[in-house]
Amino acid sequence: MGNIIKVQKGTKDILPSEIELWQFMEQKALEVFSYAGYSEIRTPIFEATELFARGVGDTTDIVNKEMYTFEKSERSLTLRPENTAGVVRAFIEHGMHRLSAPVKLWYKGPMFRYERPQAGRQRQFHQVGMEMFGIEQPTADAEAIAVAIRYLNMLGLDDLDVEINSLGCSECREIFKNKLKEVIKPYINQLCEDCQNRFEKNPLRLLDCKVESCKEIYAKPEIQNVIQSNFICKDCAKHFDTLKMYLDNLGINYTVNKLLVRGLDYYNRTVFEIKSNNLGSQNAVCGGGRYDSLVRNLGGPDTPAVGFAMGMERLFSLLEEQKNNKLTAYVVSTNIEETIKLIAELRNNGISADFDMTNKKFTKQLEKAAKVANYALILGEDEIANNTISIKDLNTSTQQTINRNELNRFLQNIE
Ligand code: HAM
Repeated sequence: MGNIIKVQKGTKDILPSEIELWQFMEQKALEVFSYAGYSEIRTPIFEATELFARGVGDTTDIVNKEMYTFEKSERSLTLRPENTAGVVRAFIEHGMHRLSAPVKLWYKGPMFRYERPQAGRQRQFHQVGMEMFGIEQPTADAEAIAVAIRYLNMLGLDDLDVEINSLGCSECREIFKNKLKEVIKPYINQLCEDCQNRFEKNPLRLLDCKVESCKEIYAKPEIQNVIQSNFICKDCAKHFDTLKMYLDNLGINYTVNKLLVRGLDYYNRTVFEIKSNNLGSQNAVCGGGRYDSLVRNLGGPDTPAVGFAMGMERLFSLLEEQKNNKLTAYVVSTNIEETIKLIAELRNNGISADFDMTNKKFTKQLEKAAKVANYALILGEDEIANNTISIKDLNTSTQQTINRNELNRFLQNIE
């Protein structure tokens, strides 16, 4: 046998045993987005490198370190590291700005970033996301967040934290950047290499540095004063306050995180992330925000826009964790005739159930039940004689005996 070629580091096969959950995520996306008036768009997986340099920003980690770039026929091409830039390119190229606003698009598919792989972080990963064009008002920001939450809820995920922030507009942000640089400058030699590089080019990104010694510096009172100051101008503040009011009206819980700056350059005003406590360090399932200058920067007419993307591998691990694919009931009995009757009755009532077809010993059947079901339904001689049934909760090991007539009601209630 020759050398075995393995899957590349940071990439994964999605196997038949996993495909059902992927199809479920895709099906729910189609449902939720269509219902809210979004149409699907599929753009190519590679684009001109320049699109990402100009779109995502040449001071970002994505563009500087993480792109899969290659040459063909003297053109520099790049596997898409994200999909906002590609969707904006298509929006401009197909004259979608001439359609009546809002133009609402959604997408799903693979993205590529040359990152250090770890749990929840791959080099080829999948995103599902949306982009909405043409609406400047915070109604669009609120809708984006609401649609994201609706999708997550439809997947059965609700233990999530929403964080929002406003980065202001180009004018007020410039003042903030300068103030930030002023207070951080005395410490510049103590910052990590990344922060030193970002200091001039992209000082906002200093705020989400994960290096402890940098975090200690940014926690100093004079620096915190600047970070926590309400630097945004009156118009930006009104936009943000209105968004918060809409979210309150929608009953969406959120926290304002002033350190939330996001890793892409195109954002202004609203940025947001949705995080899960069950994912370890890579805990963001969704990231997004407003990008009112990107369409113009990529050569289109001035068009406000807002959008988000979710990492499907991260959704997948949350869904897997939550999935309990055990049967509701496993019948444990040595009386095969009674067992067969009971199984038919359970299944007819929509309760998943199975039993031992080979008439093994009682204890063996119980062991099997503990592996495959949530409840063991025990039909011993006493139970059959008294028209009762014993129910063992296999998660807590508690047991009770009830009348046979009450069984269906009992099981319907616990399902
Ligand atoms: P992003 O924050 O770079 O934003 O990515 C969005 C989500 O994709 C993340 O929250 C995470 O769940 C997932 N993700 C990112 N990188 C990886 C990775 N290496 N492995 C696994 N999952 C990952 C964007 O991409 C923007 N285009 C979002 C957007 C749309 N903003 C406006 N419109």
